[in-house]
Amino acid sequence: MVNSTHIEYKKRMINTWNEIAPRYHKRWSDKNTGPFQSTQKLVSMAKIHRGNIVLDIACGTGAVTRQILAKIGKSGHVIGLDSSQAALAIAKKSIKERNADFAIFDAENFVFSQKFDVITCQYALFFFPNASKALYNIKKVLKKNGTLVLAVHGAGDAVPYFSSILDSVQKFIPDYIPSGAPDLDRFGTRENLKKAIIQAGFSKVLIQEHKFWYSPGTFSKYWSDYHKYLAKPLREKLDKLDQKQKAELRKTILEKTKPYTKNGIIKFPWKVLVLSAKNS
Ligand SMILES: C[S@@+](CC[C@H](N)C(=O)[O-])C[C@H]1O[C@@H](n2cnc3c(N)ncnc32)[C@H](O)[C@@H]1O
Repeated sequence: MVNSTHIEYKKRMINTWNEIAPRYHKRWSDKNTGPFQSTQKLVSMAKIHRGNIVLDIACGTGAVTRQILAKIGKSGHVIGLDSSQAALAIAKKSIKERNADFAIFDAENFVFSQKFDVITCQYALFFFPNASKALYNIKKVLKKNGTLVLAVHGAGDAVPYFSSILDSVQKFIPDYIPSGAPDLDRFGTRENLKKAIIQAGFSKVLIQEHKFWYSPGTFSKYWSDYHKYLAKPLREKLDKLDQKQKAELRKTILEKTKPYTKNGIIKFPWKVLVLSAKNS
């Protein structure tokens, strides 16, 4: 059955990523720092060999795709799949190798006639409203004994970069996260992630928990950058608060960041789960 809330959510996601892809690329995925130290961990956990055929689901601007290419050599082939045209355009611009292709697809609705040795998916599983459907699709196109690797953020306070702002903002703007949006934290613990992958029929599940560090600078820089890199619909909601509410919100967030602040500079821990599983 088609779920209209999911369709609305996906339309918003496509618009959001089409808007923010250039900023996301510049600030995050093009740098292997902070949470993006996971890219190297993920690719190494995948044990990719020369000549492998690899699918990079929700490849975005190509952070993982690029590292896959270095492993497969000229005899391999990688396909990057994403639902955002703008993200794919950036990936295509910087990845010119003839054995890399990109395709615009929804992770819950794609078909390939070929099967893959390895499938990767970094920082996207939680965005799929029907993640079990995406996992079902993944399993269908993964070779027998093929490997799935994915990375997700830790839940709640395991990533205070997100929680310091989100917990506070939601007190002031209860509909900040629109209704119908999936819970982005639902795979952010070892137990929940493992359960979802086993339920989808994968086996030999291994999970690495990493604690990376990320410094957004001073509190003022953290808060102003958050605003600057935000998608327009959310920025508009924040901008509607009156001066008093804005000041109170800023103060609430400031308090949340204090445990991570030393000499005026914030340094956040950032938990990331990297999983590998087999289609056996
Ligand atoms: C946080 S980015 C991760 C991109 C890339 N994997 C990386 O590590 O930089 C999330 C990506 O998921 C994509 N995405 C979200 N929902 C999707 C869906 N249903 N199908 C395909 N891609 C989706 C977005 O367009 C975006 O490029």
